[in-house]
Amino acid sequence: MRVTLRDLQRMKQAGDRIAMVTAYDYPSARISERAGVPLLLVGDSLGMVVHGHSTTLPVTLDDMVRHAAAVVRGSEHALVVCDLPFLTYATQADAMAAARRLMQEAGVQAVKLEGGAPVAAIVQRLTELGVPVMGHLGFTPQAQHQIGLRVQAKEASSARQLLEDALLLERSGAFAIVLELVPAPLAEAISRRLRVPTIGIGAGAGCDGQVQVWHDLLGLLEGKSPRHAKRYGEIGATIEALLKAYVEDVRTGVFPTAAHGSTMDDAELALALAEPD
Ligand code: KIV
Repeated sequence: MRVTLRDLQRMKQAGDRIAMVTAYDYPSARISERAGVPLLLVGDSLGMVVHGHSTTLPVTLDDMVRHAAAVVRGSEHALVVCDLPFLTYATQADAMAAARRLMQEAGVQAVKLEGGAPVAAIVQRLTELGVPVMGHLGFTPQAQHQIGLRVQAKEASSARQLLEDALLLERSGAFAIVLELVPAPLAEAISRRLRVPTIGIGAGAGCDGQVQVWHDLLGLLEGKSPRHAKRYGEIGATIEALLKAYVEDVRTGVFPTAAHGSTMDDAELALALAEPD
């Protein structure tokens, strides 16, 4: 049985913090599942950390369907949420077509989309039609060229707007809202006012849950993770060391050994190699 929207609601009411992590493929979903992560996000951040783009904008719906299907196959209990990529929800018809593909072809349980008032009617229509929608406010990466990569809503008017957007998304049916790069006291106040859970990233400890990007959390890529990420390990360096050992073993003939291969009957081999008369 997968985690349900009702479970998330119960977790908020009970004060149980919700851990969410991005997953982009079968192995990351399997490992997250074994670790007991209740909420997986197939984020369009995959455009950057998996495909090497500098923003999420080049990510297509086909990309998301393919990655999301692998995550769904790799998970059993986690609720899988998938981002609707850039401009795939500009109209209600687009949003419905995109959600249909993600839910029918990939099998995800929910979608996430960015923005407040401009997308509220779309959130409402999707939820009326049975599509669970997670909102995303604050720094919304698909609008990066407009808003800049920085903490949002630091002044009273933009902070007020963010609160109103969050309340509007909740009224429109969103089952949870990501708050990204939002001042911690504001995120905490919004979390207290909403009935649905907030999931923070760079928004302090007062949110009902936290989401982190797989690669940032595990130290998969060289360089520093963003300030809001806690690097729990240096998996990239570990993989590099293991691959160096493999390269050395191949170079020196230590790998493979007889145990890694198979053998055949000598007579069969002799027959196969015999020169024709
Ligand atoms: O795409 C993503 O990974 C996200 C998270 C950063 C919330 O939207």
